[in-house]
Amino acid sequence: MAVITVSSSRAARGGGEDASGEALVAFVEKLEGHLAGRELIADDRAAIEAVLRRWADGNECDLILTTGGTGFAPSDLTPEATEAVIERRAPGIAEKLRAASAEHTRYAALSRATAGIRGAALIVNFPGNPKAIDEAAPALLPLLPHAIALLRGAPAGHD
Ligand code: MTE
Repeated sequence: MAVITVSSSRAARGGGEDASGEALVAFVEKLEGHLAGRELIADDRAAIEAVLRRWADGNECDLILTTGGTGFAPSDLTPEATEAVIERRAPGIAEKLRAASAEHTRYAALSRATAGIRGAALIVNFPGNPKAIDEAAPALLPLLPHAIALLRGAPAGHD
């Protein structure tokens, strides 16, 4: 699993805090996943696409979690970068995240976060607020292990 923080702030230029990246790392621990890498990058669309491709195509990463750049500001391009690299959409993941966020903030719909599959890797966007990760990520806890198993080719199995 990999954690990618997309930031327009000082943090991406070095020296700043990356609290949302930390929150995603804690979530990877809850998933009992192996953290293959963590990156902090500027909100440049081509750079985001390149990092997503590198992790998804690298064969050591089944889940790529991003934080930041999902809003309405002109510089918020994480969903576009994600959609450019995925081969299959996973809209239910983003729906679930927004539904969980809506229980905490009236601004949940202002995150344009998306999710999708490239090869055997699932990419999931989270908003940039560290609080948002603590609020919304738990809704994915029951889903992600099964999703990852299916991506690896496990039989679907139905409840
Ligand atoms: N979701 C949760 N759970 N908690 C939050 O505080 N903030 C919202 C939304 N989703 C928020 C949230 C706000 S105010 C914005 S602008 C969008 O996420 C986009 O945030 P981003 O541009 O940092 O990704």
